[in-house]
Amino acid sequence: MLKIKLEIAEKIYDGVKKINPDAEISAADIAAMLEYPPDASMGDLAFPCFKLSRALRRSPVQIAATIAEELEGGAIGSADAVNGYLNIKISNEYLGARVLPEILEKKENYGAPDMGKGKTVVLDYSSPNVAKPFHIGHLGTTVIGHALKRLHEFAGYKCVGINYLGDWGTQFGKLIVAYKLWGNKEQIEEGGIDKLVELYVRINNTIKGDEENGIPARADLADQAREEFHKMEIGDEENIALWKWFVEISLAEYEKTYKQLGIEFDSYKGESFYTDKMPAQVEKLRQSGLMKIDDGASIVELEEYGMPPCLILKRDGSTLYPTRDIAAAVYRKEHYGFDKCIYVTSTQQILHFKQWFKVVELMGYDWYDQLVHIPYGTVSLNGAKLATRTGNVVLLKDLFAQAIEKVKGIMEEKNPDLCGRDDIAEAVGVGAVVFYYLTNNRIKDINFNLEDALSFDGNTGPYVQYTYARTCSVLEKVKDVELGDEIVITTDEEATLLKTMAQYEGRVLGAIRDYEPSVITRFILDVAVAFNKFYHECRIANEQDEKVRQTRIKLTEAARSVLGSAFSLICLKKTERI
Ligand code: ARG
Repeated sequence: MLKIKLEIAEKIYDGVKKINPDAEISAADIAAMLEYPPDASMGDLAFPCFKLSRALRRSPVQIAATIAEELEGGAIGSADAVNGYLNIKISNEYLGARVLPEILEKKENYGAPDMGKGKTVVLDYSSPNVAKPFHIGHLGTTVIGHALKRLHEFAGYKCVGINYLGDWGTQFGKLIVAYKLWGNKEQIEEGGIDKLVELYVRINNTIKGDEENGIPARADLADQAREEFHKMEIGDEENIALWKWFVEISLAEYEKTYKQLGIEFDSYKGESFYTDKMPAQVEKLRQSGLMKIDDGASIVELEEYGMPPCLILKRDGSTLYPTRDIAAAVYRKEHYGFDKCIYVTSTQQILHFKQWFKVVELMGYDWYDQLVHIPYGTVSLNGAKLATRTGNVVLLKDLFAQAIEKVKGIMEEKNPDLCGRDDIAEAVGVGAVVFYYLTNNRIKDINFNLEDALSFDGNTGPYVQYTYARTCSVLEKVKDVELGDEIVITTDEEATLLKTMAQYEGRVLGAIRDYEPSVITRFILDVAVAFNKFYHECRIANEQDEKVRQTRIKLTEAARSVLGSAFSLICLKKTERI
């Protein structure tokens, strides 16, 4: 649509120049002013002429009437002047001659902007804390982060996806104490991360005690945990070996979830990697005079900027979350030379990022404004009865497992002979969760409802995956038809499908500009709806007119490739059959 808009804008521009040759406006300005009318029956694009009233010193109604007369040919099917607006319909010939061939030629690259060429983006996402549960709160960072990565890749950026594992910190001290008290090697080898989380939950509860039931708190265990972590910090072999093992076991488990989502990371450099990179930054802070001692702790005062101080060192000299983030950002800038470094976390960390971004700026790093924090709202569960094996959190893998089970049930009913059912059920179950999640604006808090997510006839993952499978089965039926060059668009359904697909690049740009994957889920829904309408209203394989039939086969091919391409931007797997 961007190209179409520009082409139409050029024509409007010619009209403008006829009214006033000195008007200071470009065709690109005009393209940016084009709107989508509120009601498609009015036209495909509308130009609000009041925006030119001042430059042309005429009323919008006069401008619209004058320019309307000039508008014909090319992309323009018709142009009507209505109340100071130009309502424009795109011509079917143009759609057939230009849009459809372009999609067929570029295939899954159709719609890809090239703004990212030669630029590098680092994305820090997912980043669970080892040995703590990987729960549904991590769904956001994982799928929003990966969608942003795919979107940037699509736009030509070189992307580095980093899983900044929470693999260092006092929680490991606790885990080591718990392991020594209650742990058992075989059990953990068998039970994996669940066993670790169990130990972690148990030690936390034991340390806390239970006042109501007369179980005293165990501060001594907290001290022991600190001691064990300290031993880790000074390289105690036994503890380091245990720590490595815990991390390995956790990673193996995360990998399973990532695989279900089709996600791979380029780097797993977690918090532990930065241990030896912090002192240099702390020293720089000290020398610059930015760091103050406050009640024994080292801080950077941020009152001037309306924020509480950023904590750099605890009283005992140990480093903190912001310290590591600062060191990691410096390392990444040096190592990857990023043009943008994106962090995806829940809104709860907004202040944390604002604080340390400010510290980076104050430290004199001129790339501070290339750091971007992308927050997202919280997820709660409603109605869905999910296993809560670790207290009150729902594990991501349990949510996926439950979705997959349900899909299997539905498939058994609807399509019992389907082969490859397990893989398909996984793609649809996981896809349903992802799609449902990503249809919301990322900043909104969402209430998760599995039933809604799995419905085959709502605005859901199963619905769009089913549509994709439908394009595949149509194409399978006609795979031997030889296709000529001629294209004839004869119905509104065909035209609407093409116009919808033509919006792809603009939507991708919007999604990147706002860091908003939901723009893509909505686009997918628009294409799916347009395709299904076309499918129901138009004969495809058994259309009598040969040119019309071939055009419709090509349209189906185009819909398959645009849907497939857009799926890949949001971690949705392509399902050839359902
Ligand atoms: N591990 C952190 C958590 O689960 C998220 C890390 C986000 N990335 C960062 N560079 N701070 O809360």
